[in-house]
Amino acid sequence: EKGGWDSFMDKEIHEDPAAVQRTLLGRFDDSGAIELDEVRIDEHDFKAIDKIIVVACGTASYAGQVAKYAIEHWVRIPVEIELAHEFRYRDPILNARTLVVAISQSGETMDTLMALRHAREQGSKVLAICNTQGATIPRESDAVLYTHAGPEVAVASTKAFVAQITAAYLLGLYLAQVKGTMFRDEIRQQVDSLKDMPRKIQWVLDTQTAAVEQAAERMANAQSFLFLGRHVGYPVALEGALKLKEIAYTFTEGFAAGELKHGPIALVDAGEPVVFIVPPERGRSVLHTKVISGIEEVKARGATIIAVAEEGDKDVQRYADVVFWRPACPTLMSPLVDVVPLQLFAMNMAKIKGYDVDKPRNLAKSVTVE
Ligand code: F6R
Repeated sequence: EKGGWDSFMDKEIHEDPAAVQRTLLGRFDDSGAIELDEVRIDEHDFKAIDKIIVVACGTASYAGQVAKYAIEHWVRIPVEIELAHEFRYRDPILNARTLVVAISQSGETMDTLMALRHAREQGSKVLAICNTQGATIPRESDAVLYTHAGPEVAVASTKAFVAQITAAYLLGLYLAQVKGTMFRDEIRQQVDSLKDMPRKIQWVLDTQTAAVEQAAERMANAQSFLFLGRHVGYPVALEGALKLKEIAYTFTEGFAAGELKHGPIALVDAGEPVVFIVPPERGRSVLHTKVISGIEEVKARGATIIAVAEEGDKDVQRYADVVFWRPACPTLMSPLVDVVPLQLFAMNMAKIKGYDVDKPRNLAKSVTVE
């Protein structure tokens, strides 16, 4: 079943490229326009949507947090991310113009299910992004956009995460198409960028695995890790931190890199490993400059810098102790590649420590109690 891999997690990380590719498959008509045929909300209702609330837990919520940056940019409507278990206890503002997007790999997470039931009771439409055909969450939703990552067996979510981002991006581009907030050419350009990503993820798997393994050997005894990122790199940092605590039982904390000087930098001491998600140098270079200055600040305090950065980034070469390289890609697409070395890193750390990477202690694959 593991197809030659020594764990399901290893196999599933190596299915990241296929998960993105299969999620994109069959979703465009001959003209290249996006078709979401599993979506049973009529176009008129879609046009009227003026707000999105994503409800999800854990990794699925980080996929939603990534998608917020893209959807707000493309569709120009506010996107809120809410942990499903917080959602219905705070009397959220919902109406027929709010689209609630429930993201769930298993489709059985009770917290997420209760949140979507609450949203529907309040008159909002619910669209599920789900990896499991016919699960409770898609069955109870008004519309479904399946991720086609294939069954995920390892408890820690990996390929489902990249598939969730892909599906949420498709939803964003579909909304931009329906609402006319982007030109067709612009939509096609984003779709082309998405279609390039499986190849880029494969490049990371093919060329960065050895560096990740060496880094894990070197850091195996570290007591804690900080993960920092800005913009879409922020939820990637949170996801990298979650993976490592989940399966390697290492204390980790993910922060927005800009928060560093507002508190977290107090934690940084000589030898503390700090993982930075460094945005591409081109385009949003302001972001790049700011992340690099964060690296300089912690480096000056003796931290060990691990960076995920674009191939050839000279600033990163200067400061980082360890680098996991990504091939050049647009900023909004970078989470699809940047998470991959972090998944591999967590897996390697857990293996070195002798833990069962597929079945971490205290965790279940689907959390069916509230
Ligand atoms: C992390 C992980 C969990 C799940 C969360 C939601 O690796 O597996 O954080 O992402 O429990 O599960 P689903 O997506 O099944 O609703």
